[in-house]
Amino acid sequence: MTTRTALVTGATSGIGAAVAVALRDAGFRVIGTSRNPATAPAVDGIELLELDLESRASITACAAAALELAGHVDVLVNNAGESQSGPLEELPLDALDRLFQLNVLGPVQLTQLLLPGMRAAGYGRVVMVGSMLASFPLPYRSSYAASKAAIKAFATAARKELTPYGVWLTTVEPGSINTGISTRRTKYVADDSPYKGECDTVIARLDALEAEGTSAEEVAATVLAAVQAERPASLYARGSNAPLVFALRRIASRGLVEAITARKFGVRH
Ligand SMILES: NC(=O)c1ccc[n+]([C@@H]2O[C@H](COP(=O)([O-])OP(=O)(O)OC[C@H]3O[C@@H](n4cnc5c(N)ncnc54)[C@H](OP(=O)(O)O)[C@@H]3O)[C@@H](O)[C@H]2O)c1
Repeated sequence: MTTRTALVTGATSGIGAAVAVALRDAGFRVIGTSRNPATAPAVDGIELLELDLESRASITACAAAALELAGHVDVLVNNAGESQSGPLEELPLDALDRLFQLNVLGPVQLTQLLLPGMRAAGYGRVVMVGSMLASFPLPYRSSYAASKAAIKAFATAARKELTPYGVWLTTVEPGSINTGISTRRTKYVADDSPYKGECDTVIARLDALEAEGTSAEEVAATVLAAVQAERPASLYARGSNAPLVFALRRIASRGLVEAITARKFGVRH
């Protein structure tokens, strides 16, 4: 059997690093990406290419380099992303532009560049690493939840365009995962903001949940299962009691689910 090649964006830390290792250990040739591959720690059996999802030219160059290196890319894991927070009223437009370029438009462009090869080969898997916040939106995470809902919608809506060609699009929604992402979260709330107290409460709870969250390796196992499935589902979730809370979402009213989600993070009105 020919070796499948997987491209994993943001493979230098957290979920992306764990996914790269899981795919390597499952027999895939793995190409990871980083904005700074020269300074990233080397990991046995994982090649690294440069990719900055904020730059369309970098995305084009990365796709071309991956195809030149391996001849074909069978699996794309769109993992790299930014975690952003702040009250809707205060989110700077430049920060929103950056977030949507990094979390949505960049991954879409990369997917577009790799789909023709997958379609021609009659096999492909594209995994969007979303977030359970897209399914359970939370105050002060509106931009992030919206970006993850957008990337999920691209994958879900386009699935049936690609399945006739053996190409499956899937979203994996992690819950709170202990990767240290809290320390890299971008925060936009003014010191004198009327929202500051509640926003800080929500973010502190998120940070605490992340610190005791599910491991990146567990999310990687879910991504691997999605990639290896003969007919991958459109949505997988891992962490934060996903089976229980998705079951609740099916039986409870939308308003009740929103209230429970907000309450869990300290928003009580
Ligand atoms: N951790 C959680 O609790 C959690 C929950 C739900 C969803 N997620 C999602 O899971 C994914 C991975 O999260 P994580 O916790 O593993 O985060 P992380 O450790 O901060 O990793 C983010 C990765 O993205 C890459 N990256 C950042 N900016 C980039 C850019 N402009 N262009 C290209 N790559 C860039 C980084 O690589 P370089 O610095 O090497 O470029 C890094 O490897 C993200 O999409 C995140 O939104 C995480």
